[in-house]
Amino acid sequence: MKKIAVFTSGGDSPGMNACLRAVVRTAVYHNIEVVGIMHGYDGMINNEFFPMGTKSVANIIHHGGTILKTARSKEFMTVEGQKKAMENLKKHGIEGVVAIGGDGTFKGALEFSKMCNIPFVGCPGTIDNDLVGTDFTIGYDTAINTVVDAVDKIRDTAESHDRLFFVEVMGRDAGLIALRAGIGVGAESIIIPETKTDIEDLIKRLENGRKNKSSKIIIVAEGDEAGGAFAIAEKVKKRLPEYDTRVTILGHIQRGGNPTAMDRVNSSRMGFAAVEALMKGEKNMMIGIVDKNIQYTPFENAVKHIQELNPDLMRMVGILSL
Ligand code: F6P
Repeated sequence: MKKIAVFTSGGDSPGMNACLRAVVRTAVYHNIEVVGIMHGYDGMINNEFFPMGTKSVANIIHHGGTILKTARSKEFMTVEGQKKAMENLKKHGIEGVVAIGGDGTFKGALEFSKMCNIPFVGCPGTIDNDLVGTDFTIGYDTAINTVVDAVDKIRDTAESHDRLFFVEVMGRDAGLIALRAGIGVGAESIIIPETKTDIEDLIKRLENGRKNKSSKIIIVAEGDEAGGAFAIAEKVKKRLPEYDTRVTILGHIQRGGNPTAMDRVNSSRMGFAAVEALMKGEKNMMIGIVDKNIQYTPFENAVKHIQELNPDLMRMVGILSL
């Protein structure tokens, strides 16, 4: 392999830069030319290619976001868009591609592989942790630490005013940010799309909970089927008007910030492994870390978000929040 391309795509996540740095430096070490593609699949279509070297990734390991920028490309979903992307990859003599992104990125790569035979290998870049074949995705650890930091602050004010807070966190289809961050902040309840939300049960838990507890924090994943934090808070307020209730939506704060040490190390390992996977002739594989070891998972399996969460964690949440 003489020349590869790398791009970031979908929602950005802290650690994407660390991953990119590892891809570029590993390739350079193996005498492989590297081309960066700006703006994800849109840049592949619009010919936004530029050469990268060791210096172009200096001093980025600690920065959130992505220096390659990112996009959720609509045009790449069309055959015409994919044709343009393929022509550009061929024009630049690209023999392999590292895609850093989430499930949309890998679904796109899989579709593209029906038309284009240039091998793609993926690194799981998303704060949602909703990919199969890795214990942690790039950015997840930073995102849950951001949530924990924010909710600790909310807890201070909630405690002072004896208030009930509903805090909404990201996760359109997955409640994994809500689950781990919720455990980390000692939430009284965690509401996630993977389990059926029972408002009556929530109300009962609030009524029967320890009476001398002055603050209560409910973490709500944005994708929960009962609605977001505002909708759920409204329903609860009607039944428990005695509570002084507030709602906070944490939003995109969860996607930014300097990556944690864990995200930097995992991202570096995955970027390094991605280049070596391409050199070994792998294609349509996501690089993950499972039980501390690098693992390859075919894209079609990686994108099957498992709805069932660790039952031990779920049981523990109920007991520890009493
Ligand atoms: O996939 C990452 C994510 O942050 C989700 O948790 C969230 O639902 C979505 O992206 C938000 O996307 P956008 O920034 O395009 O609004």
